Amino acid sequence: EEAVTFYRHQLLNTPAGKPALDYLRRRGLRDETIEAFGLGYAPDSWEATSAYFKSKQYREVDLLQAGLVSERDNGEVYDRFRNRLMFPIRDERGRMAGFGARILNPEDTPKFLNSPQTVVFDKGRLLYGLDRARKAIRAQDQAVIVEGYLDVIALHQAGFTNTVSPMGTALSEHQLYLLKRLSRRIVLALDADEAGSRATLRGLQIARQAMDHETEPVFDPRGLLGFEARMQADIRVTTLPEGMDPDEVVNRDPKEWERIVASARPIVLHVMNTLATGRNLDDPKIKDEIASQVLPLIRDIPSPIERDTYRQQLARLLRVKEEALQIEPTSAVRPARRRSTGQSRTIRQTQPPASPALGSYNREAHILGVLLRRPDLIYRVDRFLQERGLNRLDTSDFQHADHQSILRLLLLSVDQDMAEPLTYVMDNLSLEMMELADNLLARTGNLDPNDDRVLEDLLRGLITIRLDAVRHTIDYLRFCMEDIQEQGDLKASQYQQTMVQHTKMLERLNQAQGYFASHNLPSRYI
Ligand code: UTP
Ligand code: MN
Repeated sequence: EEAVTFYRHQLLNTPAGKPALDYLRRRGLRDETIEAFGLGYAPDSWEATSAYFKSKQYREVDLLQAGLVSERDNGEVYDRFRNRLMFPIRDERGRMAGFGARILNPEDTPKFLNSPQTVVFDKGRLLYGLDRARKAIRAQDQAVIVEGYLDVIALHQAGFTNTVSPMGTALSEHQLYLLKRLSRRIVLALDADEAGSRATLRGLQIARQAMDHETEPVFDPRGLLGFEARMQADIRVTTLPEGMDPDEVVNRDPKEWERIVASARPIVLHVMNTLATGRNLDDPKIKDEIASQVLPLIRDIPSPIERDTYRQQLARLLRVKEEALQIEPTSAVRPARRRSTGQSRTIRQTQPPASPALGSYNREAHILGVLLRRPDLIYRVDRFLQERGLNRLDTSDFQHADHQSILRLLLLSVDQDMAEPLTYVMDNLSLEMMELADNLLARTGNLDPNDDRVLEDLLRGLITIRLDAVRHTIDYLRFCMEDIQEQGDLKASQYQQTMVQHTKMLERLNQAQGYFASHNLPSRYI
């Protein structure tokens, strides 16, 4: 917060900040907007910022950890942000998390520099503008995602306050989840797709390249559709006029922005239409190419009505009979066999189809409900698993993002000693998540947490979940390998390896499960 104040002062009250202020005004921002978003200016100096904070008795190590200064090889520090416009980035509750910083001199690079990953700044878990957009998203029951900081600000200024943006990284499931809690209707406003990368939702794809470290899965259309199905969200895509950013659109004509948002289409229709734009749809080979990219997307959609409608629309678009677009029915256990083109197989390889979600939700909820009452059992669970060559309990054991978040906190909670684990978890949950945690606790309300069988119950549940997942993956791998062999692909050996690993895991899990059948759980586990 003090850095926000410092940079803002530089922008508003110093001669050096004047060109930056002029720039913002030229971009159409009003003074009250600049104020409301706490914009600032980082002086063109290697030490002005650090000198200021040192004069306020801040230690160098804290400035480093806050990401305000960087370190040279020889240990000297220098200001990270120089001659840049500063955009404070806050979490959804308005707590200061980091900065996005845009160049003013067109020669400087990179164009945007963000705070480094810090304890409070995790780009994949924040959305720019969400603190100011929450209310509107709820009230309008719709969230709009754009690509840039200035776009968010310009749209808010024009009254479209349900707008947020990621920070140059791919949309993560966590970010979508943050929005989904406020509204299930989410609109992605993307740059006009260029030919050649039509089906990829270019904006998200570019973000993938800019992403500097692992985190959550990246969203291509397939990933987005998967999220949509799991979260029962309604995700739509709209494209901007060629060569225009949302801020230019809204500054020219706010009504045009309304029209653009209102014309957002379901993901499948968006992909379908962008693929077809500018192509010769009389050419059977082009028809086939488009169909083979779109049909795999349609096939995984859970709703038969949606599936049917998209298929009809695809048939109409390509001017073929619907029967020509055969989609084999989805199978929860085993992906439908089909002769795939190279293209759609590439998509398949990146992500196994979502496994059946129904039973898993309740199982996960039960495990969490128990763990919230007995966080100490995490150690015993881990010990049991490790003794059997199995991985420790981990967020990847769960499929549901909200469950993953709570488990993540639980795992942290037993690793700290500032508060009781449950208190720690509750203190770090948002209001909505607290509600979920309460529900989870309610599920296990009549369970006696001191009962000897609690651990056994936990382990059985966990192993069942893992068995389901491993079996599912093995089915999927088998399917891929058959598919590949038919086509004489050389990558088969990679699949073979993964298959061997998973088969080994399956054996170990089966052994672990068998353990309960033949033993009473020894007391050291309780
Ligand atoms: P753009 O280059 O489209 O910039 O990047 P912009 O937001 O429209 O900015 P103006 O209009 O030129 O001032 C879109 C977003 O991608 C991220 C930033 O979050 C930016 O707002 N980005 C872009 C980066 O993180 N790093 C970069 O080098 C470029
Ligand atoms: Mn722009």
